[in-house]
Amino acid sequence: MSGGWQTRIFASSRELARSAAETLRRRVSDAKREGRRASVALAGGSTPKTLYELLARAYTDRIDWEAVEVFFGDERCVPPDDPDSNFHMAHEEWLSRGRIPPDQVHRMPADEEDLEAAAMQYEEILRSRLPSSDDGFPILDLVWLGLGDDGHTASLFPGTAALEERSACVVAHEVPDIGWRMTLTYPVLDNARCVQFLVAGEAKSQLATQAIEESRLLQEEDIVAMPAARVRPKRGDLEWLLSKR
Ligand code: 6PG
Repeated sequence: MSGGWQTRIFASSRELARSAAETLRRRVSDAKREGRRASVALAGGSTPKTLYELLARAYTDRIDWEAVEVFFGDERCVPPDDPDSNFHMAHEEWLSRGRIPPDQVHRMPADEEDLEAAAMQYEEILRSRLPSSDDGFPILDLVWLGLGDDGHTASLFPGTAALEERSACVVAHEVPDIGWRMTLTYPVLDNARCVQFLVAGEAKSQLATQAIEESRLLQEEDIVAMPAARVRPKRGDLEWLLSKR
């Protein structure tokens, strides 16, 4: 891994959200200087709600939203208006109130009947909208990820075959005791220019500390690490943003 690697601890989830929002603002400025749009993949779950609400409330005029393409890191296989949908959460907290052109918001079609075709369709969208790395994977500017209690991230869950997927960019799979999910795979996460884990709360912060340690150990030896620890940007930055509450 040649990018930067850092852990930042914040007093509150609001301060964590501010830091993540500032990262997006900088990444959009950098992309515009290079004459292109910036791309961000959103995390699901509950932690990012504070961030998305902040973006809707305080960043309307601080970011050139015409220069932003929004993707999703994963999705539950439910309709987009389902309370469990990650798109629904982001839409309610931000996208419905933001200024991103609707055709620049790319929802994961995880509610389709044919999930394999839907995953391939999303991969095509990624490939058509994003530059490709030398090893042929789409490059996202920024990926926001959460951390599950079992060490999962996006919808890369322990013990699932999705963890071993090294060619497809997007897979749909049935997660035992959870249900059907669609998720970006490690090759896409590891080709991002910046990956930020957003982790709030004491318990989750302790789990994050374990993930960070496992990720470091993975550099030297092939240990059994939790899925979140196996995100290893090849050239981009890996940042753990932790807040105690
Ligand atoms: C999902 C998320 C998942 C989430 C973690 C943390 O679809 O649930 O993508 O990876 O980020 O489970 O969720 P919380 O933020 O709710 O703790």
